[in-house]
Amino acid sequence: MEKRAIAIIGTGYVGLVTAVSLAELGHNVICVDIDKNKLNLLMAGKSPIYEPGLETLLVQNLKSGRLSFTWNHRQAIQNADIIYLAVGTPSLQDGSVDLSYLMEAAKEISLSAHDEIVVVTKSTVPVGTSEIVKKFIEKHAVQPINVHVVSNPEFLREGQALQDTFHADRIVIGADDDVGAKILMELYEPLHLNIIRTDLRSAELIKYASNAFLATKISFINEIANICERLNANIEDVARGMGSDSRIGTQFLKAGIGYGGSCFPKDTNALMQIAGNLSHQFELLEAVIHVNNRQQSLLFEKAKTRFAKLKHLKIALLGLSFKPNTDDLRESPALPLANKLIQDGAKVIAFDPVAYEKGRKLLPDEVKVTDDIRHALQEADLAFIVTDWDVIKDFPLALYEKLMKRPVIFDGRNCFALSEVSQYAIEYHSIGRQSIY
Ligand code: UGA
Repeated sequence: MEKRAIAIIGTGYVGLVTAVSLAELGHNVICVDIDKNKLNLLMAGKSPIYEPGLETLLVQNLKSGRLSFTWNHRQAIQNADIIYLAVGTPSLQDGSVDLSYLMEAAKEISLSAHDEIVVVTKSTVPVGTSEIVKKFIEKHAVQPINVHVVSNPEFLREGQALQDTFHADRIVIGADDDVGAKILMELYEPLHLNIIRTDLRSAELIKYASNAFLATKISFINEIANICERLNANIEDVARGMGSDSRIGTQFLKAGIGYGGSCFPKDTNALMQIAGNLSHQFELLEAVIHVNNRQQSLLFEKAKTRFAKLKHLKIALLGLSFKPNTDDLRESPALPLANKLIQDGAKVIAFDPVAYEKGRKLLPDEVKVTDDIRHALQEADLAFIVTDWDVIKDFPLALYEKLMKRPVIFDGRNCFALSEVSQYAIEYHSIGRQSIY
C-alpha cells in the first residue's frame, strides 16, 4: 500500500472521523481548522465530540505521529497529494446550502497546492458543486496544478461513526476522470468494502437520495403509528410484520417523535430546494418534512389533551440529544418541546447523561438541567421521554412509580413493553400503541 500525504480541511464529525480512520490505515494525515479552541483540544488528545472509540484512536495516532493538527492552511495543503473537504455546509434561511466554508477551503487550496492533487468532497454538497470546486481551484491556482476531483460522500451515523467507517455497506466514489478515482480506490482497498464507482454528479446525488429515503421511511412509519393509535393496533407488531419482507427491511421502521440531527432535516430541505431550482416540485419529500414537523409536537399535544393545563406542573424531560450515544442537540425534538412546556408555565427539569452541558447552554434559563435521572424524576407530575438512552430504558419502572408524584409517562421512543408497564401503577402514553391508565 502506498503511504499517502493527506490533508483534511474541517475537523467536524466527518473530518475528524475520516482523519483518524485514514491515519489508522497507516497514512500521514494533517487536519486544518479555523477553530483554534477545537484544535487545542485535539492536539491534547481530547475529542471535542462524544463519539464512542474516537478519542482512543485520536490519542493512538497522535502518538504514532501519523496524525497532526494545524490552523495553518498552507502547512496542511502544500505537501498533500490528497485533500479532503470536510467543512460544514449549513442550511441558509430558505433551506438552500451555504457553500461559503467550502469555497473558502477551495481558495486555500488554490493558494498553496501544486503539481498533481486529488480533491475529495466529503461534505454533503448540491449536485454540481464538486465541478465548481475543481474549476475554481484551477482558475485561481497560484502554482501550476492538475486537479482531480472526487465525490466521496459519507454515510456514517453519529454514535456509530467508526463502525460505519470501517464496516460501511458501501463506499461511493464519483469522478469524471479515472486518475483520482483510482487513487481513492487504492486508499480504501484494505477495508475490503463494496465500492460503487459513479460519475461525479451521481455520487453527489446518492447522498441526498439516501438520506431523503431514510427520512421517508421514518415519516411513513410514524404515519402508520398515528393510524395504529386510532385503530387500537400496535405499531411494533405492524413494523415487524412489514419489515420481515426483505424488500422493505427491518431498519428505520421505529416510530417515534420524528427524526432530528444535523443531517436529515438539512438534507431533505436541501433536496427540495435542488428540485425546486430545476422546476420540479418534490411533493413526496414535502410531505415527509411536514409529517416530521407535526410528529415532533405529538407528545406535547397528547399531554395537552390529557391535562387541560400544564401550568405549575413539574415535568421531567428525559433525554436531550437527538438520539442516544451522542451529545448532539441539533434539531433535537427535545428543544421545541422544552420551549413549549415553559411557555405553558410548566416547571421543567431536563435530564441527559451526556448532553446536559450543551443542554444548559441551549435551553431557556427556566429549564433546570441535570445528569441525574433520579433528581429529574423526583416528585415529577409527568415525564416525557425524548431520547432512548439505555440509562432511561433500563431505569426500573418501579422507581419511575416510586419517585414521581403522579407517575404519568409520555414516551416518544416506545422504551417499554406494554406488558411490563401494565404491572405498575403508571399511566403510560407512547407512540402507535394503546395508552395504559
Ligand atoms: C444519518 C444517516 O443515517 C447517515 O447514513 C448519514 O451519513 C448521516 O445522517 C449524515 O448525513 O451525515 P444520523 O443523523 O447520525 O445519520 O442519525 P440516524 O441514526 O440516521 O438517526 C436520524 C434520526 O432519525 C434520529 O433522530 C433518530 O431518532 C431517527 N430515527 C431513526 C427514527 O425516528 N426511527 C428510526 O427507525 C430510525
